[in-house]
Amino acid sequence: MKLDVPAHILAIPAYVPGKPVEELERERGVIGAIKLASNENPLGPSPLAVAAVRRSLDGVHRYPESGGFELTRKLAARLGLSPANIVLGNGSDDIIAMLAAAFLRPKDEVILARPSFQMYEIVARTAGAVPVEVPLKDFRNDLEAMAGRVTSRTRMIFVNSPHNPTGSMVERTEVEALAAALPPGVLLVLDEAYIEFVRAADHPDSRDYAGGGRPVVGLRTFSKVYGLAGLRIGYGIMPAPVAEILHRVRQPFNVNLPAQRAAAAALDDADFLERTLALVHAGVDYLTRALRALDLECLSTQSNFLFFRVSRPAQEVFEALLDRGVIVRPLAGYGYPEHLRVSVGRPEENARFVEALAEVLGR
Ligand SMILES: Cc1ncc(COP(=O)(O)O)c(C=O)c1O
Repeated sequence: MKLDVPAHILAIPAYVPGKPVEELERERGVIGAIKLASNENPLGPSPLAVAAVRRSLDGVHRYPESGGFELTRKLAARLGLSPANIVLGNGSDDIIAMLAAAFLRPKDEVILARPSFQMYEIVARTAGAVPVEVPLKDFRNDLEAMAGRVTSRTRMIFVNSPHNPTGSMVERTEVEALAAALPPGVLLVLDEAYIEFVRAADHPDSRDYAGGGRPVVGLRTFSKVYGLAGLRIGYGIMPAPVAEILHRVRQPFNVNLPAQRAAAAALDDADFLERTLALVHAGVDYLTRALRALDLECLSTQSNFLFFRVSRPAQEVFEALLDRGVIVRPLAGYGYPEHLRVSVGRPEENARFVEALAEVLGR
């Protein structure tokens, strides 16, 4: 078939998702595999959210409410914001895409860390904009270097904290300095997909900017701590004038009804949230100790995953773990051929991963 595809679309790298358990079982005949590759909630979904989804099903012959009035109000109250500061998305991916659709023109520059979450580059290139990559410094977003790359063409800067795939964070003062230095017309997007897991005191918070003044947009999600990745729901926190623009490009029914109801119920499930945080924090501490006991360099993490170095081709270790039914994330595509990322699982999954890794490494 002869297709006439614009060169900027052909330049888009394909998104590489974590390997699904079903695929591994199909390909290698491994049974009972575990997936610690996509930073999902090891407890499953909130039971209150599941019940809310069931109840919502009788109403799915109708379109969901555009804009998610009830959920937006509830979120705003929870976050201490106004509903005018919140835009819901079909995952926070959807907010990233809306930002690009609304604000980027061809040849505009978008500053992002190398490596970082792939969607930033994908949406920038889709809009015909030019990604400007700034290497991490000591595995952290280098906000000073990012400020140094701002030109008259810069429209957007993506900062991800806690950072995927390293688990590192930037500090509140660093974000403030960058936001203060930006010329008018540049949006600072602070991707906070993992913020609920942060234990450090000086982490930035996009809510500080929702009142306006500085053009900062926060991205958050129900996919991680709330356990709703499969329903696809996230949101953006932003000054009201930015939200007003995003609503112009938003698909009218971008968040489905079961997802809206599940998210509202999950917000009320304090017990589930508490159990998730306790499990993840204990899992982070256990895995950090276990990886270091295997003599592996393992970065401290503020998130629900760990980034560690195996000091040999990590793809081989990844494959050997697959043979043992353990799926982690190889990071050669992120520029780290000797590193792996593992998501925190349930205690027995974490132990199985450590045991398999020790065996593969011959320790
Ligand atoms: C840094 C980062 N941002 C955004 C997302 C997308 O999350 P969502 O499921 O809300 O689209 C992810 C998902 O893994 C992520 O790691």
